[in-house]
Amino acid sequence: MLPESSRLRFAPDLEICRILNGMWQVSGAHGHVETERGVNEMLRYYEAGFTTWDLADHYGPAEDFIGEFRTRFAARYGPDRLTDVQAFTKWVPYPGPMTRPIVERAVSISSKRMGVQALDLMQFHWWDYADERYLNALDYLAELQREGRIKHLALTNFDTTHLRTIIDQGIPIVSNQVQYSIVDRRPALKMAQLCLERGVSLLAYGTVLGGLLSESYFGMPEPRRHELNTASLQKYKQMIDVWGGWDLFQQLLAQLKLIADKHQVSVANVGVRYVLEQPAVAGAIVGTRLGLSEHIADNQRVFSFTLDPEDYVRLDQVLAKSRDLMAAIGDCGDEYR
Ligand SMILES: NC(=O)c1ccc[n+]([C@@H]2O[C@H](COP(=O)([O-])OP(=O)(O)OC[C@H]3O[C@@H](n4cnc5c(N)ncnc54)[C@H](OP(=O)(O)O)[C@@H]3O)[C@@H](O)[C@H]2O)c1
Repeated sequence: MLPESSRLRFAPDLEICRILNGMWQVSGAHGHVETERGVNEMLRYYEAGFTTWDLADHYGPAEDFIGEFRTRFAARYGPDRLTDVQAFTKWVPYPGPMTRPIVERAVSISSKRMGVQALDLMQFHWWDYADERYLNALDYLAELQREGRIKHLALTNFDTTHLRTIIDQGIPIVSNQVQYSIVDRRPALKMAQLCLERGVSLLAYGTVLGGLLSESYFGMPEPRRHELNTASLQKYKQMIDVWGGWDLFQQLLAQLKLIADKHQVSVANVGVRYVLEQPAVAGAIVGTRLGLSEHIADNQRVFSFTLDPEDYVRLDQVLAKSRDLMAAIGDCGDEYR
């Protein structure tokens, strides 16, 4: 099991594990996950203390996995214990009209697939800020929340300017899910400050760079694209290229390894710990290739140590040599627009 420090009161009525299990990895772009095995694995994550799942309407069968998992969970532990599990989904609509029936239909489909009366957290994504219908969608989502269909409302990949606009409209946003890692530290520049001022949490993804932030890639030659066998590895290798390239990444891994050895943990643990220690960060999402690979025991160690000032000095010496990603890409989520 995990220590108490792994838990966080995310909202008055909602406690989470600070490492969330990411389900993009069941979408098919990271190897084929077989349903029976995948859902059985989910019970193992729960038993290890990892009670919180992050998913989306478009992550292949992810929402159906939650539905099946909840059925098996209730059979094993009793339906009363279902409140021990949290499932945070997303709605990523194609651009188009955002009427009440369209919004309501999206919420109904996700709820049905996941087997819930009310969604724990609905994280909304929008592709094009020039199309202001995102505000209509959020108004209707807030209405559905007041009607009890959604417990908490959230965003994903919104930048600081638009997060501010949305909060100023009175939409009760509890979190924004953004890319945040030791390599991609853009959220620290503007986003975190607004979040602290307005009581919004950050949920971070990409914290272990698809697995690149690990011993497996330390001292290794630069991988070619066809050697990276998941969509996640390919995504974050591109980020490393923009950030400063493979040689600088090796320098970072060398420092991470020294820090990891000192604390008797892994390189990935240091990467996740780093993000969890940043202001406004509630949780780090770590992808789970259910039934294909697992790092349960290793990821439990994230809660066995904290980084000290000397560790931060070591890391800052390398990070100072990296490119300014805010200048190269833009604020949080701009890579999608
Ligand atoms: N909102 C968005 O736009 C967005 C975008 C991307 C991701 N996400 C969310 O974030 C989740 C995470 O996805 P991601 O793409 O960012 O991937 P990630 O979490 O950076 O990487 C996941 C991979 O890292 C490896 N890994 C995990 N723990 C490890 C450890 N302790 N040691 C070594 N390797 C370890 C595993 O690789 P192996 O399986 O190969 O061992 C795992 O499949 C997604 O599932 C999704 O929920 C959201």
